[in-house]
Amino acid sequence: LYGPGRPNSKGANLNIRSQYQPLMDAMATHMDTVYEARPLLAFDVASDPAQTHEVTAPYDRRQRVGTVLWTTKTQAEQALDAAWAAFPRWEATPVGERADILRRFADLMEANMAELMALCSREGGKLLTDGVDEIREAVDFCRYYAVRAEELFAEPTRLPGPTGESNELMMGGKGVFAAISPWNFPVAIFCGQMVATAVAGNTVLAKPAEQTSIVAHRVVELLREAGMPRDVVQLLPGDGPTVGSVLTSDPRVTGVVFTGGTDTAQVINRALANRENAALPTLVAETGGMNAMIVDSTALPEQVVADVIHSAFQSAGQRCSALRVLYLQDDVADRVIQILEGAMAELHVGDPRDLGTDVGPVIDEDARRGLQAHIDRLKGEGRLLAETRLDPAHTAEGTFIAPSAFQIDGIDALEREQFGPVLHIVRYKAQDLDRVIESINGRGYGLTFGVHSRNESFAEEIAQKIRVGNVYVNRNIIGAVVGVQPFGGQGFSGTGPKAGGPHYLLRFATEKTVTINT
Ligand code: NAD
Ligand code: ALA
Repeated sequence: LYGPGRPNSKGANLNIRSQYQPLMDAMATHMDTVYEARPLLAFDVASDPAQTHEVTAPYDRRQRVGTVLWTTKTQAEQALDAAWAAFPRWEATPVGERADILRRFADLMEANMAELMALCSREGGKLLTDGVDEIREAVDFCRYYAVRAEELFAEPTRLPGPTGESNELMMGGKGVFAAISPWNFPVAIFCGQMVATAVAGNTVLAKPAEQTSIVAHRVVELLREAGMPRDVVQLLPGDGPTVGSVLTSDPRVTGVVFTGGTDTAQVINRALANRENAALPTLVAETGGMNAMIVDSTALPEQVVADVIHSAFQSAGQRCSALRVLYLQDDVADRVIQILEGAMAELHVGDPRDLGTDVGPVIDEDARRGLQAHIDRLKGEGRLLAETRLDPAHTAEGTFIAPSAFQIDGIDALEREQFGPVLHIVRYKAQDLDRVIESINGRGYGLTFGVHSRNESFAEEIAQKIRVGNVYVNRNIIGAVVGVQPFGGQGFSGTGPKAGGPHYLLRFATEKTVTINT
């Protein structure tokens, strides 16, 4: 929010405005289009008013984005038949050809960036800056996995053996994958799952989140334009449990790659385990977080606040990586909270299409209601430390939540992940540090974590002890970059391997050793 290249809270950074103006002009041409999204399957699907759902913008529910035709159970089963039949042909397609489709797809997403960003904003409520990050990450996933696939799959690995024997390790696909994604990265995570499973030689049934199916539909249209056969990747928009029950109960589904809530991952895990006559499945699940940051007395308060604002409130706190619990050493707590209060008062909550907006809407009314109930409870207990003001002139027609910060006693006081702009602050004494780390580790989530300290050995020691997937020292804790900060958690936060990391594709591949007596 305050970092280089981002508009400040008053939107007064003219340099930024001129930098984004051409993109904004291009986006403007897509702001009034009314879309009709539908399942993109190996076969054509007829319209059905009973299965058609209206989509409106989270910042103004009076504005229509379009309609989505949901996939029925029968269509999902037929799509699975097609994916099953297509697998041997696709697996036998040279990896270079598969990778080239990803590269062409990345180029097409770049060429259509303004439209995809407009949809991220209209359907997902994303700010312009978040939209840029979103499309860039999707493009990075495609190019990174294309290169990794060629490295891993192009040639068998020759292994040593006795004279008269050749040994080779060959890589292939596993079969049919279900790729189930969340609404908060409707292009990046949606694409990342889909292209990783496909380039490894699998056929894919992609199930986007209910809230963001229109942008997913546009993305799969581009993927087809890039040359992806229609029976290799199919799009199944629809209700999670309805489509999900087909994808997780049929023994022909070899694996599921899932990103979303921890509870949903557990439902999927149980469904896969309960299948009869099914081979042991692969489940890659990237789930929720209860992410903490520890600040000691040597930290720079102004930098801490800039990074806390960024980590807790960018994307309206709707990132799995977002900061939820800030631990402040007693000696600096008052100073940090004072600066934080000032910074939060400056945040502007409102229309994501306006460059002056720092915090956009939350995704829907269910999310708003759940967050508001949590906020009201903490306010009722007298725990409020700071809150941004909501201006009804900018927020009355959408689902907005004012960023807020509350004092709590420890991470154990939180029953579940609060997926929005709510920060919890805990004061700790230096002698209690070990107990703080134990309680963060003991909570069982393990996604992101931050340390702010100018004492290098302190930061290194904590980074060693904490059990999470991504540790950030003296910076914000969001925005992992593909190939630079492979991303993913442990415990309740996920199974690994890390998205955007060198080992990700291996989970979607089979390894076969061939020994020949020459
Ligand atoms: P969600 O779990 O409600 O939904 C995710 C997907 O699962 C959707 O496509 C939904 O339709 C589908 N689904 C729901 N029920 C299902 C079922 N019974 N069977 C199969 N599929 C089903 O999550 P959400 O609200 O879309 O996303 C927010 C959550 O995602 C947060 O908890 C966030 O922390 C997490 N997330 C994690 C990461 C990560 O990389 N660790 C990244 C982004 C989001
Ligand atoms: N990869 C996303 C981030 O790091 C979730 O914020």
